[in-house]
Amino acid sequence: MTKLPSSWPYPRLIAHRGAGRQAPENTLAAFRLGASRGFLMMEYDVKLSKDGIAILLHDDTVDRTSDTTGLASDKTLAELACIDFGAWHSSAYAGEAIPTLYNIAAFTLANGIRSNIEIKPVTGLEAETGKQVARIAQQLWAHADVPPLLSSFSEEALEAALQEAPMLPRALLIEDEVPANWQQRLEQLQCIGINLNNRHVTRELISAMRAADYNVAVWTVNDAARARDLLNWGCNAVITDEINIMAPGSFDIA
Ligand code: G3P
Ligand code: MG
Repeated sequence: MTKLPSSWPYPRLIAHRGAGRQAPENTLAAFRLGASRGFLMMEYDVKLSKDGIAILLHDDTVDRTSDTTGLASDKTLAELACIDFGAWHSSAYAGEAIPTLYNIAAFTLANGIRSNIEIKPVTGLEAETGKQVARIAQQLWAHADVPPLLSSFSEEALEAALQEAPMLPRALLIEDEVPANWQQRLEQLQCIGINLNNRHVTRELISAMRAADYNVAVWTVNDAARARDLLNWGCNAVITDEINIMAPGSFDIA
């Protein structure tokens, strides 16, 4: 099986969870903060509400990042809209709403910000989430200069995204040690790249992946010296929480 033409039309610095450390993760407030620091690409986590709306949320439940509890997949968008997703972080962000993928497409496209949409399905909804997120992303980014990069730990979700929107670029996320058959997996899912956990990345691994013409992004890189090493070793991008020390413009790669 052939893969999509390999290219990296994205910046080298990507803000993690929409620049979601100094502002509540995966909210518009975080995106605005990241944009104010000069970030031109954001990574964020997307799953489905009970009524099938693509929303930004990292965990299966709303417990950690809101003022209430329960599975996101048990709540409709109308129910989620009544929940505070900012006060858990700090009083300055009290009342922050959960964004839909529609909201985020509007903000990022209007501000020239590229997207890495991490498809983050609730357990059991892998294929459905991959399919719906790819379908919605294809519509929302239909006229964009650069398509969003879809990534996921779930190969089932990526396979569904491939079937639904084959021309949207995909990257496989690897949480642990990189499996020996990484290339076979990337070929099968027709990925343009692989997003690796910083804990398990070596220079040799990056060289092998780049030599095979795959793009490599590494998360979560919060140390500037490590980021420089990774980029100098040929890694295409790093995903960071540290929007101050690694802000585009002030962060010196060489
Ligand atoms: O997409 C990279 C990274 O966000 C994956 O880990 O848990 O932060 O979504 P996590
Ligand atoms: Mg993520």
